[in-house]
Amino acid sequence: MQSSDIRRTFLDHFRAQDHRVWPSSSLIPNDPTLLLTVAGMVQFKPFFLGESLPEHPRAASVQKCARTLDIENVGVTTRHLTFFEMLGNFSFGDYFKREAIRWAWELSTRPAAPGEGGGFGFDPERIWATVYTDDDEAERLWLEESGIPASRIVRRGKKDNFWSTGGAGPCGPCSELYYDRGPEHGAEGGPEADENRYLEFWNLVFMQFEQDAAGNIVGTLPKQNVDTGMGLERMAVLLQDVPNVYEIDTLGTLLSRALELTNFDEGQYQRGGPSAVSARVLAEHSRSAAMLIADGVLPSNEGRGYILRRLLRRAVRHVRLLGEDKPVMPDMMHTVIEVMGDAWPELKEQSDLILKVAQSEEQSFSRTLSAGMSILEKEIGHANDLSGAQMLSGETAFKLHDTYGFPIELTLEIAQERGLLLDRDEFLRAMEEQRTRARGARRGKAEGTPVEVYREAAAAVGGVEFLGYDKESAESKLAVLLTADGPTERAGEGDELEVVLPLTPFYAEGGGQLGDHGVIQTETGRLEVLDTVAPISGLTVHRARVVAGEIAAGQPAHAEIDHARRASIRRGHTATHILHASLKEVVGDHAAQAGSAIDAGRFRFDFPHFSAVEREQLAAVEALVNDRIAAGPEVRTTETTLDRAREMGATALFGEKYGERVRVVEIGEYSRELCGGTHVGHATEVGLFTIVSEGSIAANLRRIEAITGPEAFAYLSKERLVAEQVARLLKVSGDEVAERVGDLLERLRAAEKEIARLRQEALMGRAAALLGGAEDVDGARLIAAEVPGADRDGLKALASDLANRAGTGVVVLGARTDDGSALLFAAVSGDLDAEGVGARDVLQPGAKAVGGGAGGKGATAQAGGKDGGKLADALEASRVAAREAIRAARA
Ligand code: SER
Repeated sequence: MQSSDIRRTFLDHFRAQDHRVWPSSSLIPNDPTLLLTVAGMVQFKPFFLGESLPEHPRAASVQKCARTLDIENVGVTTRHLTFFEMLGNFSFGDYFKREAIRWAWELSTRPAAPGEGGGFGFDPERIWATVYTDDDEAERLWLEESGIPASRIVRRGKKDNFWSTGGAGPCGPCSELYYDRGPEHGAEGGPEADENRYLEFWNLVFMQFEQDAAGNIVGTLPKQNVDTGMGLERMAVLLQDVPNVYEIDTLGTLLSRALELTNFDEGQYQRGGPSAVSARVLAEHSRSAAMLIADGVLPSNEGRGYILRRLLRRAVRHVRLLGEDKPVMPDMMHTVIEVMGDAWPELKEQSDLILKVAQSEEQSFSRTLSAGMSILEKEIGHANDLSGAQMLSGETAFKLHDTYGFPIELTLEIAQERGLLLDRDEFLRAMEEQRTRARGARRGKAEGTPVEVYREAAAAVGGVEFLGYDKESAESKLAVLLTADGPTERAGEGDELEVVLPLTPFYAEGGGQLGDHGVIQTETGRLEVLDTVAPISGLTVHRARVVAGEIAAGQPAHAEIDHARRASIRRGHTATHILHASLKEVVGDHAAQAGSAIDAGRFRFDFPHFSAVEREQLAAVEALVNDRIAAGPEVRTTETTLDRAREMGATALFGEKYGERVRVVEIGEYSRELCGGTHVGHATEVGLFTIVSEGSIAANLRRIEAITGPEAFAYLSKERLVAEQVARLLKVSGDEVAERVGDLLERLRAAEKEIARLRQEALMGRAAALLGGAEDVDGARLIAAEVPGADRDGLKALASDLANRAGTGVVVLGARTDDGSALLFAAVSGDLDAEGVGARDVLQPGAKAVGGGAGGKGATAQAGGKDGGKLADALEASRVAAREAIRAARA
């Protein structure tokens, strides 16, 4: 069975059991508690927690997942991956343990068939099951629903048979299925004895509880749920009868390519060892990196960008370990797109981006990798010399991280390979110091209200209706008042709180658009709304301050947004869409929106690109956007289903999560985006659009800042004023300014050059006099003199010139600088240098006299000291030293 057959067989089976098939969500979860999508259940978390209601209580999916916890096991064991596909079936308060167990058993053991209705055809005699320590019910159900005898049902503890994402969220006991691959794969005795021989292929989680971030059970979920996860790659190992996950159909092709690109033959690979591991790492990490980039992750120094960077850099290191110096990552990525692109079309859509990111990351890391490695090698040698101190210093690790781009985990791994420990505390201290420096005075704002409080508020109100697409004010009521300490009944002047209204015209921050401001008025008091946000899906809260009188929960209230601000935001939001479409046309398809923030009057728009956008391109984008505004098509919004929107070709944003019903915003023929924000009626209302800046915000990530409407006019008008002032000063008309400034700069440069030349000439004029006054020491000429007014370059040029002209001789020159310190320079003629008269030795006593030290080697040396008053003494000291050195050399 190929990977594609495995996916199809799984989904068919559950479709037949009335499951709705969901598409995979992005690897970037819409969930602040998780960095990456780690399981199929992630996109369904709100259903399990009871925060929102699914249209259908059964679901199945093939989910892209990434986990890097066991990254150092990749390539070493038979089964560890950083990217994998999880096949899952889910029940949201519908069926529970019995059906989950029955259907898992049926699908596993039913014979394979080409069309629908086939299973995986596993030998029932070789399947083992595990259950949670005290889950008698699960054990009984296995006995009733399957052919597994009690002897092949094993009880295991929390570590193995209790599942959670690791963070806050739903969790529960689980039951896992294992397949016995036979005695050639390891010891007898079930999963407890050998997890290579007994390969886990399916995990059935009975989601019943909720835990907090620390892992404490904090409650029972509103309903009993099922969440199962079957590893596609492990199934492929079993069904394709290959020894490990790196040799299945998909990854196997990548592995062959890795061997080919690094000139390793299959025979060498078959013999195993570290090189085989390196090849697997290269194949596996390339795939994970490509999938992450396709979902909008770009390399950076934090969060998921850092995970991507680690994967790419670790892969590059293994390429070098395989002895290959030329770049291979773009070729690897090419193969990933070929092998995986049918199942995951986003790889094809983002192929440009994937190739370029891989190329630039490989390039930049290659530049520092060998320099970093030689520092590391030296340190490792050093640490090994000091017997007992088997510790690599944290300072070194920090330097490698900071200057050479070595992810700390990579340094740690290399240290471990060489039998060393790493002083992690010292490293963390260095990191923390750097962070403190960077943070300066900046301070984050504390996030107060716990999420449970919001959930209770949402339950109490029973849903908030947003009226703001066509209304800017509404009659509503103060349904819930929240303070940092929880709900409250009343509040007085000066109090700050969060207000929940069942009906509201206020837009909650989302999709890049900032929340509305405005006022809420009751019979007895007035609130100023400072921000509007949705802390959990479906609940809008108004962050407000009581500015007059007092208010009480339950009061009727008149809510009204700040009209001018909203109008300005509307213009910005529509302009964002037009910019998005225009940028893609001018700069390229990869320049897709990676983030945006739309404030009153101005907005910013982030997108991936590899260098600064060229001036002409930026001007073309600006012109195109303005043309499109002037053409003024209607901005149409429609509500539809997600599937229908996809058919319409609407652009969905990276990492955004959309509900069942979505809104599509269309402008002319060129822009069609999924968007919940507020827009103008016709593009003309945007008025004017101008770009104020374009710059880099992270590696490969650019940001455009732009303004619209009256704000844009005010900005341009101010610019014109400046231009007019400059023109007046230069006494030319506006369009001659650039030419005139160019002329002036050229003349300035010429004048500066002339001054430098004259200075040099004056110095050289002194050369004759100095040469005339030279002392004769055993036939060599010795000059030690002050050259008033000379700077560093002047001294250097003059000293070298004199040493040349002297034929055989030593020259020491000094000068005092404006701030009262001293500069010294020494030059020795070639023959004396060859005879061992060192410029630095000659200069050293002089340097000491002015309170400094001399540097340099061979025929020239320089020195500086703060004590300019001692310059005469210094020159005398160096003269004596030079005399002795010449005599010694001549003796
Ligand atoms: N969430 C469980 C897992 O990841 C089952 O889907 O194993």
